[in-house]
Amino acid sequence: MKLIFATGNQGKMKEIRMILAGLSLEIQSMKEANIDIEIEENGKTFEENAKIKALAIWNYLKEQGEDNCIVMADDSGLEVDAMDKQPGVHSARFMGEDTSYVIKNQAILDKLEGLTGQERSARFVCTIATVYPNGRVTSIRETIEGEIAKESSGENGFGYDPIFYVPAYGCTTAELSLEQKNEISHRGKALSQARVEIERFLQEGEG
Ligand code: IMP
Repeated sequence: MKLIFATGNQGKMKEIRMILAGLSLEIQSMKEANIDIEIEENGKTFEENAKIKALAIWNYLKEQGEDNCIVMADDSGLEVDAMDKQPGVHSARFMGEDTSYVIKNQAILDKLEGLTGQERSARFVCTIATVYPNGRVTSIRETIEGEIAKESSGENGFGYDPIFYVPAYGCTTAELSLEQKNEISHRGKALSQARVEIERFLQEGEG
């Protein structure tokens, strides 16, 4: 059976393959599955967006006669409490899709100028929607709590990682290795739960 993950992001696919390794499933990105459809992510919440993506692909595959696939999609982003939980579902589009994260991150640091401690609280959120071959849809939500750092630091990861400070580790998520980040991150935790869910499905054959 195939599991198609609805993303074109290579960084995400790397994390996904690592966490879902060893399952008796062929894991494919949209590109590998030759799926090239435009999906409008117009949901108001992470949950809605993940479901919109997963169902759009599941429906497309069904139309193509592929009815034995699991489709998974995630939606994730950064919520900054002092910014009314923005950029939220607009994390990728914040200040424009093509604007570099050096600029986006600096803009957030500037907005939080003068705030300290808990006033800088923030979280990464990840939701994963899964559509099973019989059309059943499930949803998982996980977060990692942290603070917006005082300045950017670290070279690993992507996006907002250089400004996301994790007090328990005393560093930003851009200063963690991919393995360390996967253990504690919103996406790592959500994918681990998804793995448990898929393992149960493969064992019990429940749809
Ligand atoms: P998505 O690809 O629609 O889920 O958008 C996710 C956006 O949220 C990314 O483009 C990043 O801007 C941000 N984001 C989500 N997860 C992370 C993370 O682990 N590190 C840094 N930024 C993230």
